[in-house]
Amino acid sequence: MSDNFEPKILGILCNWCSYAGADLAGTSRLKYPANIRIVKVMCSGRVEPTLILKAFQEGADGVLISGCHPGDCHYVDGNIKTLRRTPLVARLLTQIGIEPERFKQVWVSASEGEKFGKIVEQMVEDIKKVGPYQKKMGDQLDVVMHEVAASAKEAAAAEEKGGSNCGS
Ligand code: FES
Repeated sequence: MSDNFEPKILGILCNWCSYAGADLAGTSRLKYPANIRIVKVMCSGRVEPTLILKAFQEGADGVLISGCHPGDCHYVDGNIKTLRRTPLVARLLTQIGIEPERFKQVWVSASEGEKFGKIVEQMVEDIKKVGPYQKKMGDQLDVVMHEVAASAKEAAAAEEKGGSNCGS
């Protein structure tokens, strides 16, 4: 693997805690690798598995999801949904040949700028060890995405019946 490999990481951060934490890292001038591209969502519970698959399909080498600590979600239980969903997503990714180093889910509060920087640093280091992501699944990734989207729709409909606060 080339020594020059710089992983592209998509960071999907919730607006209220993790994005503010990343912002704090920036305003405090803490140094962390510039490998992460950040997308802000209102709640980590809004991150559908298909979005994670799409990131890999579009060329990301890694995906980081970060939300408020359990108990601090601004939509009450959005991050509990994240907590439930993460092991399933991690298993799915492993099954389709995406190394575990490429997907991470963490909790970062608005005051944890330093922690955010360290997480990014570690993830970059881990992904450098496994190298660039290559589309090992080819067209199958599209099939998997389609199936996951259908399952997510069913799950969302079932959850809607039971009521949800973060709107996912
Ligand atoms: S608002 Fe941050 S995880 Fe829900």
